[in-house]
Amino acid sequence: MGKYWFYVAEAENFDPKGKSLGFKDRWKDTLTKIKEKDEIVTYISKKSEFAGLGVVTGAYNFDRSDKNLPHKISIKSLEVDPVPAKELIPRLSFITNKDRWYVHFNKSIYEIPKADFQMIRDELLVDGDLTRRPGGEWKSKKLKEELSRRAPTGIKGLDEILEGGFPSNSSILVTGGPGAGKTILCLHFLIKGLEIGENGVFISMDERPDDLRKEALKFGWDLSKYEGEGKLVIVDVSYPRSGLPSKERYQMEMPFTLDTVVRKVYEIISEINARRVIIDSLPAFGLHFDSEAEVRIAIHRLNNLLLSSNCTSIITSEMTGGTGLISRFGVEEFISRGIILMEMYREKKEFKRALTVLKMRETNYELRRVGFRIGKEGIEVQPQKVVFYDEAYRFI
Ligand SMILES: Nc1ncnc2c1ncn2[C@@H]1O[C@H](COP(=O)(O)OP(=O)(O)OP(=O)(O)O)[C@@H](O)[C@H]1O
Ligand SMILES: [Mg+2]
Repeated sequence: MGKYWFYVAEAENFDPKGKSLGFKDRWKDTLTKIKEKDEIVTYISKKSEFAGLGVVTGAYNFDRSDKNLPHKISIKSLEVDPVPAKELIPRLSFITNKDRWYVHFNKSIYEIPKADFQMIRDELLVDGDLTRRPGGEWKSKKLKEELSRRAPTGIKGLDEILEGGFPSNSSILVTGGPGAGKTILCLHFLIKGLEIGENGVFISMDERPDDLRKEALKFGWDLSKYEGEGKLVIVDVSYPRSGLPSKERYQMEMPFTLDTVVRKVYEIISEINARRVIIDSLPAFGLHFDSEAEVRIAIHRLNNLLLSSNCTSIITSEMTGGTGLISRFGVEEFISRGIILMEMYREKKEFKRALTVLKMRETNYELRRVGFRIGKEGIEVQPQKVVFYDEAYRFI
């Protein structure tokens, strides 16, 4: 597999149409790792912008005649629209220090993750879109970005609270007791994605895929149709976990380890180019790890994988009543970009449902517990219906 490189150039010696990039002596060792067909994005430090894109066309060579930058990498340059770096910083995973992002651009050349590279490449390539024309206004582009930065849930009322949906490329923790509606919320989110062309993966730990398909159909959501079209994959973990053979095409082989799970999720995401991933549920996952420390590491790795693969994901967890912990392992909430708590309570003789957005990065929301229903078309949140109840009436 090819590698993806990040090259920091001075404005004066960079030619966007050039056939080679030059380096000083001290980068020699890194240069030997660059191979034909690797891709390179160029950043101009003086202008703070991404300004070049090239595919490596041969092994690195030494040009004696160039006293300043004698080490050369031959490339084929692509036509690009330069993009100010700060437009992309928030979404790039290799920029870990978002406030002092420029410290990441001190080195001359280094490898970056594929997902980051693709994001920069998508922005750089001239694609004829009105908002992307050279010299086009950033304002309209910003608007487009604003919209594309959201992954709509399709849930009436919730998208309203969340300014259009979950922040794209984030993982959201949905937590609550048994029967709170977590799985239905996940299905609703997944279906919305499929409707707008975002493929999905559902890792089902508790429910058999057949039950899921049936349950979804009651809301008019035909999962098998999308499965047939190669847009949705349901991975059966429930049968294998209970020691029974599964007839599903996608299933987790037992006993699964952290590595096999991460690998499987990664493979499927790449196979169908998924943008939405559901892991339902995490506690079930935890049963197969020996120590809590291992589970924590697993959650971190999974989360990193989901973030770097450009997916918006929901991980469900169990609220443990009374302990004050939102989730079973007490760590998920720290690594998730968003948390939604789903509850049931009793009002006179009736059981009712309520939902609270406890955390959502990049979103202004009011911390309010609002009512929701499970209706014919899935989840319906009632943002105007603020719910107060005596904790004694909390049912789950
Ligand atoms: N078609 C439907 N119409 C209305 N309500 C439904 C429908 N199907 C399920 N429900 C309600 O949704 C609840 C189950 O929701 P869901 O399976 O999403 O819960 P969950 O939080 O995932 O639970 P668990 O922790 O057990 O997995 C049921 O208790 C039922 O009351
Ligand atoms: Mg469930």
